[in-house]
Parts: sequence; structure tokens; C-alpha cells
Amino acid sequence: MSYSRLFFVCLPLILLVGCYQSHKKRESLNFEQALGHCAEKLALTVRSLKEDKGMPRAIPSGQSEWSTSGINSWTSGFFPGMLWQMYSHYGSEKWLQDAGHFTRLLEPVKNLPWKTHDLGFMMYCSYGKGYQYTREPYYKDVLLETADSLATLFNPRVGTILSWPWMKRKKGWMHNTIIDNMMNLELLFWAAQNGGSNGYYDIAVAHAKKTMKDHVRPDFSTYHVVVYDSLDPHPVKRVTFQGHADESTWARGQAWAIYGFTMCHRETGDEEFLKTAQHLARFFLDHLPGDHIPYWDFNDPEIPEAERDASAAAIAASALLDLASQTNEEVLAKEFKAKALAILSSLYSEAYRSDDSQAILKHSVGNKPGNSEIDVSLVYADYYFIEALLKARSMSDPAIAASEYSIL
Ligand code: GLY
Repeated sequence: MSYSRLFFVCLPLILLVGCYQSHKKRESLNFEQALGHCAEKLALTVRSLKEDKGMPRAIPSGQSEWSTSGINSWTSGFFPGMLWQMYSHYGSEKWLQDAGHFTRLLEPVKNLPWKTHDLGFMMYCSYGKGYQYTREPYYKDVLLETADSLATLFNPRVGTILSWPWMKRKKGWMHNTIIDNMMNLELLFWAAQNGGSNGYYDIAVAHAKKTMKDHVRPDFSTYHVVVYDSLDPHPVKRVTFQGHADESTWARGQAWAIYGFTMCHRETGDEEFLKTAQHLARFFLDHLPGDHIPYWDFNDPEIPEAERDASAAAIAASALLDLASQTNEEVLAKEFKAKALAILSSLYSEAYRSDDSQAILKHSVGNKPGNSEIDVSLVYADYYFIEALLKARSMSDPAIAASEYSIL
């Protein structure tokens, strides 16, 4: 058969495939349907956890139920936080009761500063949302006490919060600050405006400025950990704990940085924070593979065989939506929003949605160098996915932008 005959014989097939592809491209994420799916998963988890005092943390691949950890785990606030998110969306008494129940279990965390800076993650995602949606003084009082605890970790000689007190003994990192710590500043900003010390605002700003100087590289990638002597502001060394290498870029760390500096700009109006967040976002977006979900570390030599990290994707999507709202340049703002929606669409596709477990998403990485939680479902991936869905839904005409970039 000649080539031209072959072409005309195959033409209907070519047209059919083309139509199907363009239909797939136009398909956009249905927020209500996705949130309904999240609600089903969370209701299932609530039923299975009622008698258990632990909080969901991870589901190893091949398993279907959450493994739990105690309330002292840095991840303990995310499950109550998701229940508050459901309450904010559906407004039903059941979600209110469940969110309140699981939040109150965390009260002892307010006095844990000697263990971790993660008081912000643990309490702002749970008690913070509780206060946001109910205005009950109980939630506010516990949050203010937690902020008092967190502030004790600030070292004025260095100008940052001590992230991991336990690393002093374990690795000799006398004063250490991790990029994740940017997230916990939100609690201090909140406290300063809600009856806590005004000094908490200054602590948060000082920490963010110093992190901008010491953790952010000239190409706007980020270091995970900066180690200082306790008495001196000069970095002793820059290392990683959860990334591939000291000089590599750990994807979730980069996502925390985008989120943290965007939040700092919202709280302070400081343009330097905004510019930093935009450049950090540019680095993140420029290093994404075709399906918009990052490899767990952008420099893992195993790429393209390396694991993806859905949690980094979800955190970045949520951050990019805020960044889009705060960015005045129209083209850039539109791009951030569209890319966030593309990430969300990809996360909700069959490749990353967990249909056969209690979790919403799969394919996240907790701590690869520690050989822990590799290619699993993680509770914080689900938390930031829902947060981003709710933000996207509340922004005008998101479906239009989504259809431009959708990979479904
Ligand atoms: N410490 C927070 C994280 O693992 O990303």
C-alpha cells in the first residue's frame, strides 16, 4: 500500500485520537467532586479512629489504613485540620464535633518547646483553624500559650528560632534552623495580632529575613539546614537532613520556602519577601517534570527513576495560589494560578489519587535518607491538597485557567 493510501485509510483514526486528546486537555478539575471524595475518605478515617488516641500519619504502599503516631509527632495537627476544612466547606454539625474532638486531644502539645519548632504545624493547623471557624476563646487561649512556647526557641544572638533542640546532642548542631521553620512563623504573626506579645511579630520578621539570607541560594534554590554556633549569627555550615545531599534541593523544603515567604509577605507587606517567593516559585516550576509533580529531590541522580513527592506538590499548589493573589504583574499571577491548578489536576488524576486506601493521595516521600516513609501516603499531602482545593474554588473562574494546563 502506498504511503498516501495508508494515510487516507488511517485518517479517521488520527482524527478520533486528536479529538480525544483535545477533549482530555480541556477537561478540568471538578472541585466539588474532589472535595466530596476527600470528605468520604475523612469520614471513613474518623470512624476507624474513634477509639485510637493516635493521629493518622502515613499509609505504606500496598496497605489501606493509616498508621498513627502520638500527639507529639510534628504531623499531629493535620488530621484535625482537615476536619476543620470539611467543616468550613460543608458546615455540618458532625464535622464540627469531630474536628473539635480531635483538636482537643492535642492540648498538651502547647508546652513542648524543648522538643521542636513544629508547634506551629501542630497547633496552628488544628487549634488555629478551630479558632478561625468557631471564634471560641478556648482555641485562642491554647494558641496563645503555644506561641509563648514557640517564642522561647528564638535565639536573639543568631536571629532565628532553634528548629530541632534534639539535634544539639544528636549531631552537635548547637543552633540549627531548617527551611521548614518558615511555616511556623504564621502562629507568631497571628499571636502578635491576637493578644500575644508584639515582640512575636519582630521575632517572625527577624527569622524570615535571616532565613532569606542564609538558606536561599543565589539561584533561588534552598538549603535544608543551616547550623550556627549558639552565640554567633554566622553560619557554621549548611547541610541537609531530609534531602539527597547538602548542595541539592529537597523538593518539600523548596515548597515550604515558597509557602513561608508568601505568607510573610501577606503578613508584613515587605516586597522583598514577595520577590523571594516569586523567585523560589520560578525555581520550583522550572524543575517540574511533565506531569507537574516534583521528584522528591530535584538533584537525585536517579531521576527519572527517583520517587515523586506528592506532598511537595500539594504544598506548592497551595502556596502558588496565594502567591498568585499577591502578585500584581498580571501575566505572572496568571501563570502561578494556572500552574497550581495543573498540579492539583495531576494530583487528582489516577496516577496520584489513592482510590483503595483511607488516604486521598499516594506517592509522597517523608524522609528518604532516613529510609522512612518512601513512596507512601502522607497526612500532610492530603491536608495541603484540600487547602489548595478550597482556595482554588474560592478564586474567580479557576476552571478556565485549569483547562489551559490540565493534564487529565
Ligand atoms: N519537618 C517537616 C517535613 O518533613 O517536611
